[in-house]
Amino acid sequence: QPRSVAVIVGSLRKDSVSRKVAKALAELTPGLTFDFIEIGDLPHYDQDIETDSPPAAWTRFRKEVGAHDAVLFVTPEYNRSVPGALKNAIDVGSRPYGSSAWDGKPGAVISVSPGAIGGFGANHHLRQALVFLNVPLLSSEAYIGNAFSLFDENGRLVNEGTAEFLKTFGAAFAAWIEKILAEPAAARA
Ligand code: FNR
Repeated sequence: QPRSVAVIVGSLRKDSVSRKVAKALAELTPGLTFDFIEIGDLPHYDQDIETDSPPAAWTRFRKEVGAHDAVLFVTPEYNRSVPGALKNAIDVGSRPYGSSAWDGKPGAVISVSPGAIGGFGANHHLRQALVFLNVPLLSSEAYIGNAFSLFDENGRLVNEGTAEFLKTFGAAFAAWIEKILAEPAAARA
C-alpha cells in the first residue's frame, strides 16, 4: 500500500500557482498518494474555544492530517513570511497540547513565488515552526521561482526543468518517508 501524504497549500485563492505546483508534484510522484487538506474554513486559533467541543472544522482538519503518513506544505510567501491562513492551520493542528497532529510525521516544504527569490522567507519561517513541532523534514530545498511562467493557461506544467526537479524532489520525499517511518516511533519522539 502506497504511503499517503496530506498536502497543505498555503494559498486560499482558486487560481493559486502554489496549488498548481502541488498538483504537478503529485502527478510526477507515482509511489505516493496525495490528498489536499483544506485550511480556508478553519476559525482563527483561540484557546478560549479549545473545549470538549471545539469548532467542527478544527476537528475535521486534525483528523484528516492525523490519518496520513506524511505532510507536504506548498506555500506562497506573504511579506517574506508564511501566509496567515497557513500559520493558523499549523497552530490548529498542533493542539490540544499533547495531541498534535504533526508530531513525528515526515514532512517536506516547497515555496512558490512569481518572483526570483522563490519564497525563501516563507520556506524558512515554515521550517522553524515545523522543527519545533517535531516534523522530521526532508532537507532537500525547493524554491519555485518565476512560477507564473511555468504553467500554460490550462494550469499544466510546461517547464521541463521544473518537471525534472519536482520528479527528483518527489522521489526523495518518498524515500525520506520510508526511512523515517521505518524508525521505531520512540526514535521520533
Ligand atoms: C504577496 N506576494 C509576495 N511574493 C513574494 O515572493 N514575496 C512576498 O513577500 C510577497 N508578499 C505578498 C504579500 C501579500 C499579502 C500578497 C497577497 C502577495 C505575491 C505572491 O507571491 C503572489 O500573489 C502569488 O501568486 C501568491 O501565490 P498563489 O496564491 O498564486 O499560490
